[in-house]
Amino acid sequence: MKIMAVILAAGQGTRMRSELPKVLHPLAGRPMIRYAIDTAKILTGEKPVVVIGHGASAVQEVVGEEALFAVQAEQLGTAHAVQSAEALLAGKADLVLVFYADMPLLTVETMSKLVETQRKNPGPLTMLTVVLPDSHGFGRVIRNADGSVQAIVEEAQATPEQLAVKELNVGAYCFRGDWLWDALRKIQVSPKGEYYLTDSVALAVEAGRPVQAVALEDADEAIGINNRVHLAEVEAILRRRTNTRWMMAGVTFINPEQTYVEADVVLGKDTVLWPNTYVRGKTVIGESCQIGPNTVIEDSTIGSHCTIIASFLEGALVEDHVEMGPFAHLRKGAHLAQGVHMGNFGEVKSSYLGPGVKMGHFSYIGDANIGPDVNIGAGTITCNYDGVKKHKTEIGANAFIGSDTMLVAPLRIGENAKTGAGSVVTHDVPDGEVVVGVPARLLRKKKDNEGT
Ligand code: UD1
Ligand code: CA
Repeated sequence: MKIMAVILAAGQGTRMRSELPKVLHPLAGRPMIRYAIDTAKILTGEKPVVVIGHGASAVQEVVGEEALFAVQAEQLGTAHAVQSAEALLAGKADLVLVFYADMPLLTVETMSKLVETQRKNPGPLTMLTVVLPDSHGFGRVIRNADGSVQAIVEEAQATPEQLAVKELNVGAYCFRGDWLWDALRKIQVSPKGEYYLTDSVALAVEAGRPVQAVALEDADEAIGINNRVHLAEVEAILRRRTNTRWMMAGVTFINPEQTYVEADVVLGKDTVLWPNTYVRGKTVIGESCQIGPNTVIEDSTIGSHCTIIASFLEGALVEDHVEMGPFAHLRKGAHLAQGVHMGNFGEVKSSYLGPGVKMGHFSYIGDANIGPDVNIGAGTITCNYDGVKKHKTEIGANAFIGSDTMLVAPLRIGENAKTGAGSVVTHDVPDGEVVVGVPARLLRKKKDNEGT
């Protein structure tokens, strides 16, 4: 049986009070709609159809190749929205999964229960329901005396008796493809001027066909985001889910409520995350690291046994046994080899620091390639930019760069070479030589000069 999915995302989301379309608001580092798209893909093995309207071009641009799009030019209700996808789906799918883009907590497990129930249902649809003490804003699920589902009544149309019902429509459905499209055409406009998808339930029941309902076990999954209070609630729940998953996999969180790990991050076992740490984007952290407190790591790869305190890393590659911080900054293209020590107030950009390099205090290294075991004295700066172009600095193995050295690029410092404190180096330094002063000159050993 072929299943395809329709995700409704054409509504305005007025209550967000935002320039950004609701479904693009970020949640744990991903646009809200990506959760629905990922779930749909896992369940169907196909790109879902996303129904867009308000902010259509922005949504389409962010979602890109991940989905097919159907445009609902005027928002005439959820049934009308599904109809916009008819041309893309009619005759192609045995089962059509329909759900809303603003419910990112719905899990794959729950949605596959919905699909499995419909597979066995001789009737045309199965829906998700939830029992909540606060029913505000939801359609009420009305059942017959024998317990079978009779209808969904929207809040605006409900009688006081119906309003008291605590079983609610979640907003996720699985339809038979050969029934859905004709049924949608039979739905009458509501007193509010909208065509409600929820009226399909009563249509099926009136035709004598059974509607099945799957009840949610975890009521959190029913949270739909309509405003920024819901956004924060969902963010906190997603954070808890992600952190719990990593704790079960062997990662220690000193305080999970204050540790922010985005959805696509990968963490190694026995790593410890200290509070106020943000691990973002496509970051991978190895085993047995100590990360934080007060650290931000974005789109970076960190090896094992690293210690990173109060630092900011973006687009960096850090090998095993590196110590960093406090207050270190790695920018794009920084690559720290095994055993590098980088202390406070250092910045590295587009540079390789070889194994065992020590850079203890107050340095800027940009566009440089630094050999193993080099010592970079306090306050060293690669002057890599002449106001027009960036230039490269090369430092050979075991070189010793004195405190406050200015390395005016392009420049090569030889292996085992040394620079004096405060020197401004404008010319290459051969292997094993020492330069001092401003501008730096070779320091000749007295013995040689005097020929004694
Ligand atoms: C809907 C359900 C309600 C359910 C609730 C759960 C209907 C009629 N009602 O109500 O039973 O309890 O969700 O949260 O379905 N959309 C479009 N085009 C439209 C209208 C809506 O794409 O013309 C999209 C919206 O962007 C949104 C989704 O459909 O993602 C739901 O629409 P919304 O107006 O939020 O429905 P609710 O009033 O919440
Ligand atoms: Ca809603």
